[in-house]
Amino acid sequence: MNLSVDQARLVSEIETLTTFSDADPPAVTRVVFTPADLRARSWIKDRCEEAGLVVRRDPIGNTFARWPGSDATAPIVGTGSHIDAIPNAGKYDGTVGVLGGLEAIRALKAAGFRPKHSIELLIFTSEEPTRFGIGCLGSRLLAGTLSAENAKKLSDGEGATVDEVRLKAGMSGTIDEVKLPAGYYKAFVELHIEQGPLLERERIPLGVVERIAAPASLRLTFEGAGGHAGGVLMPDRKDALCAAAEVILALEHAAKSSGAIDTVATVGICDVFPGAVNSIPARVRLSVDIRDTNLDRRDRMMKTLEEVCRSIEARRGVVIHSELLNADAPADSGTGVISALIQACRKHGFPFLPMTSRAYHDSLFISRIAPVAMLFIPCRNGYSHRPDEYASPDDIARGTLVLAEALATLAE
Ligand code: GLV
Ligand code: MN
Ligand code: MN
Repeated sequence: MNLSVDQARLVSEIETLTTFSDADPPAVTRVVFTPADLRARSWIKDRCEEAGLVVRRDPIGNTFARWPGSDATAPIVGTGSHIDAIPNAGKYDGTVGVLGGLEAIRALKAAGFRPKHSIELLIFTSEEPTRFGIGCLGSRLLAGTLSAENAKKLSDGEGATVDEVRLKAGMSGTIDEVKLPAGYYKAFVELHIEQGPLLERERIPLGVVERIAAPASLRLTFEGAGGHAGGVLMPDRKDALCAAAEVILALEHAAKSSGAIDTVATVGICDVFPGAVNSIPARVRLSVDIRDTNLDRRDRMMKTLEEVCRSIEARRGVVIHSELLNADAPADSGTGVISALIQACRKHGFPFLPMTSRAYHDSLFISRIAPVAMLFIPCRNGYSHRPDEYASPDDIARGTLVLAEALATLAE
């Protein structure tokens, strides 16, 4: 089979997708179920239908575009990623796996390949945690690692529940119907930018992901005592922001001294109430994101955080509530899917690096119900989640070609 990827079309489609955004270019902001996200979804649906794929959408908005195989009863070979983008993001996170997946299918069709297993492109809903505080909402529900009941309890910053938001966005049916039946997938493979510097540094064009790190996220609320910034003397204060600052630094110290480079911890949100120059912070909310490739070590970090909170609480008289949003286990890729990717790299003489994904992805959750693997391409300076995120057209096309070869191996 002689496969050819239309690099110019693929790059131009990535550029077009960038225009569905709530940020000034080159930044991209596309939060799930906003008008920009809905316009992007509708544009992609049209591209999938133009390519002859059969498109369906589940009640949470996960979108499946199927190329039916010759055996309608055989389990599906899946590929895909997400198109939602965090505020002030770049163009490539997720979109390369969606539009690259579509282009891979088009390349296979153009080459006359006839799959036995149906090949399905999947555009996951809300890989990013921006709106509902939890990442991979769509894939968690597909895999059943998040129950419909718990998903219904989630709400956005305005207090609107997942159900209210998705119904308003035009999704129909109930969240209970999202979970996929057992045995749905034969395999799932996701193309993605690396979001780290290793491939570029080693000058290796492709990464075959063998393992995805385990993320945990928490929300901490600090309840102190507000008051006049002039009137309340220092010994009498219960400043919620000072307590939060101590926790942030203790968390950084714990991550740096875990003994492993794979331990990372981030506080990305700090909301201060009442947020006035001359008022002592009475309440603070922090987001905490802790990750590791080793589950025990990740869980030890969470225990340390808990101990730090108790000790700061006692010393400062500030009450700290901790709400666990998710604590997921790492995933190993499936050996068959890894082999299909390696075989595809070798066929074209492309060097590849076996890798760990330190970012999480929807594949982490699909791994609970199917063998998965991911294929990484380099991104400049390892930058991601920022407007200057960049992947070269050659790297995107190379990744797409290898993805197409691997899909063919898995689907024949
Ligand atoms: C995904 O975007 C992540 O935060 O790893
Ligand atoms: Mn991301
Ligand atoms: Mn992503």
